Amino acid sequence: MTSDHEQTIADTLKRLHRTDDLSGIEAIRVEALGKQGWLNQLMKTLGKMSPEELQVEGPRLQGMRARISEAIDDRKAVLEAAELERRLASEVIDLTLPAPETPMGSVHPVSQVMDELAEIFADLGFSVATGPEIEDDWHNFTALNMAETHPARAMHDTFYFGEQDRDAEGNRMLLRTHTSPVQIRAMMENGAPIRLIAPGRVYRSDSDATHTPMFHQIEGLVIDRDIHLGHLKWTLETFLKAFFERDDIVLRLRPSYFPFTEPSVEVDVGWQDVDGRRALGGDGDAPGHGWMELLGSGMVNARVIEFAGLDPEQWQGFAFGVGVDRLAMLKYGMDDLRAFFDGDQRWLAHYGFSPFDQPTLSGGVGARA
Ligand code: PHE
Repeated sequence: MTSDHEQTIADTLKRLHRTDDLSGIEAIRVEALGKQGWLNQLMKTLGKMSPEELQVEGPRLQGMRARISEAIDDRKAVLEAAELERRLASEVIDLTLPAPETPMGSVHPVSQVMDELAEIFADLGFSVATGPEIEDDWHNFTALNMAETHPARAMHDTFYFGEQDRDAEGNRMLLRTHTSPVQIRAMMENGAPIRLIAPGRVYRSDSDATHTPMFHQIEGLVIDRDIHLGHLKWTLETFLKAFFERDDIVLRLRPSYFPFTEPSVEVDVGWQDVDGRRALGGDGDAPGHGWMELLGSGMVNARVIEFAGLDPEQWQGFAFGVGVDRLAMLKYGMDDLRAFFDGDQRWLAHYGFSPFDQPTLSGGVGARA
């Protein structure tokens, strides 16, 4: 009986050596060690043996099993190594082939312009402030000198939350219609003096080629002692020249009305016709030139300073608000505001900016790679 098994084992090992593929090895394994395999069947007889027989047969069968499975593992390793050799020899990696292109995102023109403005105003000593987009009507209107019945409230086409969604003080909640409430928050939180810009989203129920229900503004606020209109004019001129990267930017200040500034000034910028396009720059009164309205501004109304808890006898200043999207359109030549918010990859690829190209004053804030 013993020699029978030795013969079977010898045959198995011989067959293993002649087998050149992994599936053949698997067949041999099943034949010997599988559930129905001969060695496995033999192991089952151990249960019926006397203790004396078991002492001899147990280790013998275990030894047979170990020899076979070791031989299987060895042969497998040899075949796998050979297979790897074969693949390494036949497969060629061409390092000169171009790598598949990794699509890269771009910086949206709105973000780019906000970064440019932050850079320009940082140079003038302004910090960047933010406020909530979900505002209460006290910060958005009342503290800005627009009383409950003020007609300017109706001008803003406000998105209101429900009557029941009031804040702890009972104020109605709304989507802010401008960035001016940040003026109030900044004065109340930090006191004076102040030099800040506040970029962000604002909302009005309005929609056509030049109006979207959500758009972007940047607020400017300076509060200090002895601030006057001259400071406002210089600041706007300096910022617009840096932003449009032209020295020939000419401003026209027109008297206007905002409840939160007094006096209020609407600022126009001169343009000239260049090949049928309006290019900013030059005196708007010259022949072939014109003025376009750019932003609202003025000296902060004493009542607003008072609302925000400061003493208007001591502190005064100026504020301005300008559309970021509009600035982007004028500088980079887009003509439909709605495209800004469509998320069209082709538009973004065309008008977007490289994330590695941060705006700097020395490099020209709007430099493209
Ligand atoms: N908040 C005004 C608007 O949205 C703009 C503005 C800001 C005007 C600051 C004057 C001063 O139209």
